[in-house]
Amino acid sequence: MPIRVCLAGATGWAGSELARGIAATEDLTLVAGVSRTYAGRSLGEVLGEPRLACAVYPSVREALANRCDVFVEYTTPESARGNILAALERGAHVVVGTSGLADKDFAAIDEVARKVELGVLACGNFALTVVLLQRFAEAAARLIPQWEIIDYAHDDKIDAPSGTARELAARLSKVREPETAVPVESTVGSREARGATLAGTQVHSVRLRGFVISVEIIFGMPDQKLTIRQDSGSSARPYVDGALLAIRRVSTLVGVHRGLDSVLEI
Ligand SMILES: NC(=O)c1ccc[n+]([C@@H]2O[C@H](COP(=O)([O-])OP(=O)(O)OC[C@H]3O[C@@H](n4cnc5c(N)ncnc54)[C@H](OP(=O)(O)O)[C@@H]3O)[C@@H](O)[C@H]2O)c1
Repeated sequence: MPIRVCLAGATGWAGSELARGIAATEDLTLVAGVSRTYAGRSLGEVLGEPRLACAVYPSVREALANRCDVFVEYTTPESARGNILAALERGAHVVVGTSGLADKDFAAIDEVARKVELGVLACGNFALTVVLLQRFAEAAARLIPQWEIIDYAHDDKIDAPSGTARELAARLSKVREPETAVPVESTVGSREARGATLAGTQVHSVRLRGFVISVEIIFGMPDQKLTIRQDSGSSARPYVDGALLAIRRVSTLVGVHRGLDSVLEI
């Protein structure tokens, strides 16, 4: 039996690429999509993908009238929490791609998920190369006490630092606090030149034409340095394989788990 998936945000930049990815698998099937703009139409017709036969619904509650095993959330941080709770209520495991949910949202979701014994897997960046960068950086931080993060993006990206840079800084704070020879607040000149302090790490955001999305972490020690960098292209393709893996593995979990590495053997 294929895993039945309901996808909120099925017509969006990330969701539509995932829908095409699901259509290309044999073990997953989309039973419903959610989008207010395209409600009432066939998702296959909207995306030009004849292998997608399901309908598009205007709300998650209506879409969930179709029985599904896994609900995927790819909409906005404002609607995500309600959508996730509705899916848990209907007995579905949940994969969260939407970024921007707060820790208190995840705490509330975790309580419900544990009560109904369902899994929720949330990952701010499903790209396998980002997941690997996170793991390599955690390993390096155990041995090298100084690091800073640089986040590069196109000039019209409005948020800074990127969600990926924030997530990386938060993960490294669990390893240890990076050492600084001169505390940032003791900077002579412009303190801003040292970047933003996030979870103890200095993060610098570059926003320029010619860049897509990249994240770089530099570790420094006497007379040597290590740079780990990830570059994304301009399509949503890098997020598909990680999201498919999350859909396949989420039923092995109970409660909220953050990061794709919770189901990866790395
Ligand atoms: N985890 C990852 O690897 C990853 C990768 C890329 C993006 N993201 C995150 O995923 C989220 C979506 O990004 P995106 O670039 O795909 O956005 P997008 O292109 O704007 O797509 C949003 C989708 O959600 C639907 N939607 C929005 N509000 C809704 C509501 N209230 N009810 C029902 N459907 C709603 C939209 O359709 P209608 O407007 O027609 O309703 C659309 O299909 C963002 O939080 C982004 O940061 C995560």
